[in-house]
Amino acid sequence: MIKHSIPPNYLERRQRLMALSPDACFVFFGAVEKVRNNDTHFPFTQDSTFHYLTEFDEPEAALVLVGGKSHLFLLDRDEEHEIWTGERYGTDRARATFQVDETHSASHFFSKFEDLLRDAKRVFYTLGDDTERDTKVLKVVHDARKFQGKGSFGNLPVEDPSGFIAELRIVKDDLEIGFLRKATSATSRAHLQLLKRLKPGMTEFDAFNEFQYHVFKNGCTAQGYGPIFASGHNATTLHYVKNNDTLKHGDLFLIDAGGEVNGYTADLTQTFPISGSFSDAQKKIYEKVLEVNREITKITKPGISYRSLHARSVEMLTESLLSLGVLAGDLQANIKSQSYRKYYPHGLGHYLGLDVHDVGLYHDRGMDYELKAGMLLTNEPGLYFRERGNAYFGIGVRIEDDLLITANGCEVLTSELPRDIATIENLRNIATS
Ligand code: GLY
Ligand code: MN
Ligand code: MN
Repeated sequence: MIKHSIPPNYLERRQRLMALSPDACFVFFGAVEKVRNNDTHFPFTQDSTFHYLTEFDEPEAALVLVGGKSHLFLLDRDEEHEIWTGERYGTDRARATFQVDETHSASHFFSKFEDLLRDAKRVFYTLGDDTERDTKVLKVVHDARKFQGKGSFGNLPVEDPSGFIAELRIVKDDLEIGFLRKATSATSRAHLQLLKRLKPGMTEFDAFNEFQYHVFKNGCTAQGYGPIFASGHNATTLHYVKNNDTLKHGDLFLIDAGGEVNGYTADLTQTFPISGSFSDAQKKIYEKVLEVNREITKITKPGISYRSLHARSVEMLTESLLSLGVLAGDLQANIKSQSYRKYYPHGLGHYLGLDVHDVGLYHDRGMDYELKAGMLLTNEPGLYFRERGNAYFGIGVRIEDDLLITANGCEVLTSELPRDIATIENLRNIATS
């Protein structure tokens, strides 16, 4: 669908970025189509930063920001090609729709780039994503250095913009929070449908299909990551993606799946009994994980660091493993030796946004980053028992919510999905009776 306008947020983001280094030239490239096999491609997904700065979602685009102006490079209109792949914007329409100062044909990128570098004092460009392209970009920069300074030393340094980009992307604006609210609500309601409808004898793949049906019906247009539909022992494999087993009476079902709205994804995990109720052992583990999830929601607020939240989850889960008799000895000694990692091998969570594991540092050279209002963090404690002979063998539980950091605390964006045992068992009893 061809859009005629987009909100002003994208222009404002470009202006904020340019204000961080007014004498610089910033260069960004969009994604290219990737071959699946022969002449078939994977569904096209725009590079997240390119989307963040433009909302322009055609392949092979580039963006140059210099001297306070935005230059968008895009593929030319091509009647023959458009018969196969659909209408392109072309330079005239793109200029108006995407509120850029100038548009150019992508085929003129390298000659035009040379002109655009004329008055720049530094270049921001990420090296290493595409070494062939790096060589071409660096050749232009090298020539411009000579031209500018009549020598090639000292001027026009090339720096990485990723730090600036992460600082911008990590705190979401209202437009982004709106997309994330839609994605998390649609995802929570799709998960609720699974909680209410799945029965023993169905397959993990049936659940995958149901999820996709409901999450798309609720307004999402893609899934933000490869989903995990892991029943029974499969849940103890953290990135289980085969999703082809049969749901068996007595097992748990761990589902980690999230829908996307305008590129912004939810990331939600629920764990429930395939039969009507939890076994005693399953219930004990579920309760311990839920306790941590709730404590983290309670203490998350601006000023606290991710690392201190993770440390709190480690402390609580290690205490639980000791009380269950899975670990023995002193709490601090177990934390120090990281014995808990056999059962809790991942972090408490991660930033969330356009990427499911979104950009942004958690700490830097020993300094912790503090949470700020407008950031999103997942809250996903879990316990997994893979070793035969353990009393809890075959149990894998993760409870994952998406938290929006607010002025004084946090809001659980995935709260439409019930987490307490009584409500879950009630819904499962109805589903399986
Ligand atoms: N779904 C990926 C994760 O939870 O990190
Ligand atoms: Mn996650
Ligand atoms: Mn997840």
